[in-house]
Amino acid sequence: MEAAATSAGPAEVYFNPWDENFRANPYPHYAPLYDGPPRVINLFTDFALIARYADVKAVLLDHVNFSSVQPPTIGFGEQNKLFGSDPSMLSADPPIHTRLRKLVSRDFTPRRIRELEPRIREITNHLVDAVQRKGSLEVMADVANVLPVMVIAEMLGVPADHYQTFKHWSDRIIESDNVVPGMPMPEDIKAAMAELRAYFSDEIEKRRKRPGSDLVSALVAAHVQEEALTAGELLQFVVLLLLAGNETTTNLIGNGMLALGRHPDQMAKLRANPALMPRAIEEMLRYDGPVQSTFRTAARDINVGGTEIKAGTGAFVMLAAANRDPAHFPNPDTFDITRDPNDHMAFGEGIHFCLGSGLARLEGSIAIGAMLERFPRLRLADASAALKYKGSYFLRGLANLHLALD
Ligand code: HEM
Repeated sequence: MEAAATSAGPAEVYFNPWDENFRANPYPHYAPLYDGPPRVINLFTDFALIARYADVKAVLLDHVNFSSVQPPTIGFGEQNKLFGSDPSMLSADPPIHTRLRKLVSRDFTPRRIRELEPRIREITNHLVDAVQRKGSLEVMADVANVLPVMVIAEMLGVPADHYQTFKHWSDRIIESDNVVPGMPMPEDIKAAMAELRAYFSDEIEKRRKRPGSDLVSALVAAHVQEEALTAGELLQFVVLLLLAGNETTTNLIGNGMLALGRHPDQMAKLRANPALMPRAIEEMLRYDGPVQSTFRTAARDINVGGTEIKAGTGAFVMLAAANRDPAHFPNPDTFDITRDPNDHMAFGEGIHFCLGSGLARLEGSIAIGAMLERFPRLRLADASAALKYKGSYFLRGLANLHLALD
């Protein structure tokens, strides 16, 4: 695909989520977007780029004018087919969104999340023990890829030792972001989605016959007794929780450890004062968040920050750009684990604010805390080595990250 450039503003903008080099480091490309009203660029159709903090916040809070439902006309047709036609809460507007979110809210209350803490620590300790025995650490494979998928699998009530299969499915499906709209979906991605759906259709059937105390059973009950959920929505729900609940937290751990590795002074500060961990996690989320951008569609003609956006136009709502907006954060490109205040939008804003934020923060702080505690001389194995990112602009994360232990 051609570079997406526009001359509509003072500085030229390059934005192309399907370009590997752009994805490797999108941050310099955000700089011209802070200088004026949102740009409308043509990728294969018109898209608005919403990057300034105030504009991102305004769009996310305005779910009436900015819909989360993706119309089939927008160009992501193949991706939409992959996920089926039933809405998930992430891609629904009220009242459907309100109904779906209510069904799982009680499973994500701070109390329910606190109850998971001992098990999260137990899994983490097993993982870190294995690293110690092995004598080397590849953060992604050894810790970050494993912990979140095991936790969400257990919440869903499916065997945690199937985690490698789940991870395989979820990695393939996330790569669908990387398929240029209009191009055919690769067969392995379609196969992963079909297998995931078949697996969970089967699990749902099992819970119908023998309910347990897990989340899938609770959703099945909502489907059967209250008719609050259609069969298709039930399946979408489970797929959403599995995908949203693992890849993002994986990348918080990976991107966070990379930031610490690249800023040894900040790592030393955190070691010296572990009570800084909650603030350090917020800074990791702000500085290099797992979700670079979300997406909305203008429901009617609307002005955002001085730009007219036409009804039906898609908008990249760039959370990670907002989190580096110099008009909102002093020294936005500095990684400072004591930053306060730090009202980043890595978890979104408004009615779709991340349901799993408490769980993600808990898993991130336990995993990162355990690695720092166990390995006192942790550092980047090769600070000059080129990093390889996985194939999605929207969900930003490393393919691997080698840290030296001695
Ligand atoms: C660091 C990790 C995470 C990040 C950065 C993150 C980020 C986000 C963001 C930005 C949104 C809003 C998207 C939008 O407005 O379009 C969102 C929604 C959501 N997240 Fe997360 N998430 C994380 C972890 C989790 C976990 C662990 C779970 C579940 C176990 C989860 C479940 C969800 C769900 C279900 C939604 C949809 C909520 C709604 O539509 O009302 N997330 N997340």
